[in-house]
Amino acid sequence: MDVILLMAMTLDGKIARGHTELVNWTGKRDKQYFVKVTRKAGVVVMGSRTFDTIGYPLPGRKNIVMTRDKTRKSDDKNLVFTDQTPKQIVEDLQASGFDQVAIIGGSVVNSLFAKSNLITRIHVTLVPAVFGQGLSLFNTDLDLSLEYVASREIEAGHLLLMYKVIYHER
Ligand SMILES: NC(=O)c1ccc[n+]([C@@H]2O[C@H](COP(=O)([O-])OP(=O)(O)OC[C@H]3O[C@@H](n4cnc5c(N)ncnc54)[C@H](OP(=O)(O)O)[C@@H]3O)[C@@H](O)[C@H]2O)c1
Repeated sequence: MDVILLMAMTLDGKIARGHTELVNWTGKRDKQYFVKVTRKAGVVVMGSRTFDTIGYPLPGRKNIVMTRDKTRKSDDKNLVFTDQTPKQIVEDLQASGFDQVAIIGGSVVNSLFAKSNLITRIHVTLVPAVFGQGLSLFNTDLDLSLEYVASREIEAGHLLLMYKVIYHER
């Protein structure tokens, strides 16, 4: 299963100034790239804070929202609230025929997937901004080895950086 972490990040490694800030500081090309990759995958996984910040399910994609709040329910088949582990989520998606999933934040959910050694690729758009403080790409101790794949300037000063995660046999 290809599990791609897709994020926009400032030069100082921040993905937001706070837990409920809308991501409105990236460029048009990053948004287009996000739509392209997530539509191709067909499914996105996010944390409940990210979902609440966006405010609606992303159209044309299955939206899986991680929450431990059992009162959160949906009648929309493309919007699923779950307290499953990242491993269970990935296994269920695989069983239902998906071969790619995009992890789209925030810091908490990125960390849950990284800690579970499930992320296979990381695509980060480095935005020419510095927040100084705020939420980092991850919020826990990790030791991921990455292999550089490619990079390109998708619009003036915005660098799309692509890495593969290397897992060594233990
Ligand atoms: N720059 C970017 O590309 C980018 C991308 C995405 C998001 N963001 C930003 O990131 C911020 C939100 O990130 P965040 O780290 O605060 O929150 P988050 O990862 O979006 O969501 C965290 C929530 O996930 C739920 N959760 C935590 N552990 C869980 C578990 N084991 N199982 C199930 N659910 C679990 C909890 O919600 P409950 O209380 O509901 O249980 C928790 O509050 C927003 O400002 C957003 O705009 C930025």
